[in-house]
Amino acid sequence: MAFSKGLVFAMVIAIFAIVKPSEGALNAHYYDRSCPAAEKIILETVRNATLYDPKVPARLLRMFFHDCFIRGCDASILLDSTRSNQAEKDGPPNISVRSFYVIEDAKRKLEKACPRTVSCADVIAIAARDVVTLSGGPYWSVLKGRKDGTVSRANETRNLPPPTFNVSQLIQSFAARGLSVKDMVTLSGGHTIGFSHCSSFESRLQNFSKFQDIDPSMNYAFAQTLKKKCPRSSNRGKNAGTVLDSTASVFDNVYYKLILSGKGVFGSDQALLGDSRTKWIVETYAQDQKAFFREFAASMVKLGNVGVKETGQVRIYTRFAN
Ligand code: HEM
Repeated sequence: MAFSKGLVFAMVIAIFAIVKPSEGALNAHYYDRSCPAAEKIILETVRNATLYDPKVPARLLRMFFHDCFIRGCDASILLDSTRSNQAEKDGPPNISVRSFYVIEDAKRKLEKACPRTVSCADVIAIAARDVVTLSGGPYWSVLKGRKDGTVSRANETRNLPPPTFNVSQLIQSFAARGLSVKDMVTLSGGHTIGFSHCSSFESRLQNFSKFQDIDPSMNYAFAQTLKKKCPRSSNRGKNAGTVLDSTASVFDNVYYKLILSGKGVFGSDQALLGDSRTKWIVETYAQDQKAFFREFAASMVKLGNVGVKETGQVRIYTRFAN
């Protein structure tokens, strides 16, 4: 069969149009030419920071989640408050998000290596992947090309799901960002690393309801252990709390195993076992760490797509708009 030159040309153009990522869309090779060392610089920074402070991985993972849930993944969580505006960073659920200095440090190095090129939002997304991998979890290819936001409002942190949410509320909160029930259960597995302050779970330990002192979905012995860690306010330091799972510096599927035995720390964790829409997913991951890792990687890519800005600025400083 003979094709005319014109037809072949049209076919080549058509194929190119399908394959070529649309301009500005996120892609895995975004900095291949403009900043080939970007991922290496970020990984080294995150790894060194983790060696000095083992709390860094959990903090950076949570930072990514909170950033993406408010105004999309646009690094609005890094902006500082000003005299006339209280920023996300200073909103109640973010007071315990720390280690901003690690992202600042990476960004400073990136500005030296390739000025005005790598967005703060991409630095957070890459760092979140790196801390998971460094903690023993999966690796995935981070899509890049996000632009940075210029607006950050503390009162919008009200839209982060609190640990008292039930399954319907959790599903709704994730669906509003285009994330499925499965994404929600999978991403909750982020609680396989890190720590919580007493204030986030102590309502489960006393005066839980009119009829029950302790949340009945919580393992009784576990509740007693947590009670000891969280004596009434006057008797405890501001850092009182508990690790989120028994292997809190290792990214594994123990979080799901603990939920099966009533040892989820937050009401929102334990609730996943009490609802048929989510129970099977908890059971699957508790049995199959490979499946959890595979799905976690996929859901993190989806989380990283939430409300992404493809036009706008690459901030030079993490804390201020240009
Ligand atoms: C499903 C809804 C979620 C709720 C209600 C929730 C709630 C919380 C709460 C209350 C804390 C403890 C804060 C404190 O007392 O210091 C926490 C910690 C944490 N969350 Fe979540 N979270 C959710 C989803 C996620 C997701 C999707 C991720 C990441 C993929 C994540 C990662 C973390 C990490 C790593 C920590 C430990 C932070 C640290 O050690 O500093 N969470 N979360």
